[in-house]
Amino acid sequence: MENRALYPGFFDPITNGHVDIIRRGLKLFDGIVVAVLKNPKKRALFSTKERVAMIRDIFAGDPKVEVRAFDGLLVEFARRSRTRIVIRGLRAISDFEYEFQMALMNRKLDEETETLFMMPSLRYSFLSSRLVKEVFQLGGDVRDLVPGTVEEKLRAKLKKGRFVLSQ
Ligand code: PNS
Repeated sequence: MENRALYPGFFDPITNGHVDIIRRGLKLFDGIVVAVLKNPKKRALFSTKERVAMIRDIFAGDPKVEVRAFDGLLVEFARRSRTRIVIRGLRAISDFEYEFQMALMNRKLDEETETLFMMPSLRYSFLSSRLVKEVFQLGGDVRDLVPGTVEEKLRAKLKKGRFVLSQ
């Protein structure tokens, strides 16, 4: 059976930190399924469709990366997509508590699902989608922090006056 892992998240928007984790994951697995959480209740800057499209665009040349939207429980989606390893990025100690709870809850819900923590490159260890949006909205330079296509989409949102900060 193919050895693929799931990399779930909200990705509003995907950052270079996420891209770094996906590339690291590809060294360990035959493929990565990027699972984008659909969440109509959570205010997001980008729609589910836009978030999925941006990630597909970044990995367009790489058939080992599949991007899918999901809702409901992550463990159910993992079961349906036949991926039992969930990759999560750990940036700092502050991430640990939430990630620890989530990993153990997912294990409680499904013993077969394992969570694997990976550290992004140090240069992305301070990075989050929320900070990228805030810095960008206030006129800061995010070019080193997100892929070029994402920066273009941020610019387009700002131009249309559709910039809302969520998360
Ligand atoms: O990018 P994020 O916000 O850190 O991603 C969080 C995500 C999408 C991985 C998490 O919220 C999730 O798995 N949601 C799906 C619902 C679920 O399974 N909840 C129980 C997890 S303990």
